Amino acid sequence: MILKILKYPDPVLSRPGEPITEFDAELRKLIADMFETTYAEQGIGLAAPQVGVSKRLTVIDLSMGKNPKDKLIIVNPEIISSEGKQYEEEGCLSFPDIREKVARAAKVRIRAQDERGKWFEMDGDELLSRCFQHEIDHVDGMLFIFRMSALKRDLSLRKIRKMQRAGEW
Ligand code: NI
Repeated sequence: MILKILKYPDPVLSRPGEPITEFDAELRKLIADMFETTYAEQGIGLAAPQVGVSKRLTVIDLSMGKNPKDKLIIVNPEIISSEGKQYEEEGCLSFPDIREKVARAAKVRIRAQDERGKWFEMDGDELLSRCFQHEIDHVDGMLFIFRMSALKRDLSLRKIRKMQRAGEW
């Protein structure tokens, strides 16, 4: 089932998600629906708060559905180490048409649970590192415009207001 993606400034997007404690059929259904929604929107990642579920869950697939091995289910994640810097363009399904450069760590190591509750650690660099940081920010209630420079954030917010006035947001 394709879920409705909340757009900024929906308050659920800015609320830290609750930890997931039940690894049940309901969680697996939500995960399946989140992947389906990500592919329908041609995204590479989606966090539960973006579909109105204030929980610490995100799904990532850099292959956009082309390679089943690239499907990542990330429950209750945290970044346990990070190094280096990168400065690349990012977008977000909750901010249609907004793309700006954001400063991120070059590499991160995360710790998370899978859909059955098993803990794992995983390293990411380049795009995957950026995706981990962007999606883990979402489950913390943090949005990428607040990682931009003040100048880029003001430009983005102005563009959003303009689209809102035009009924395009
Ligand atoms: Ni996003």
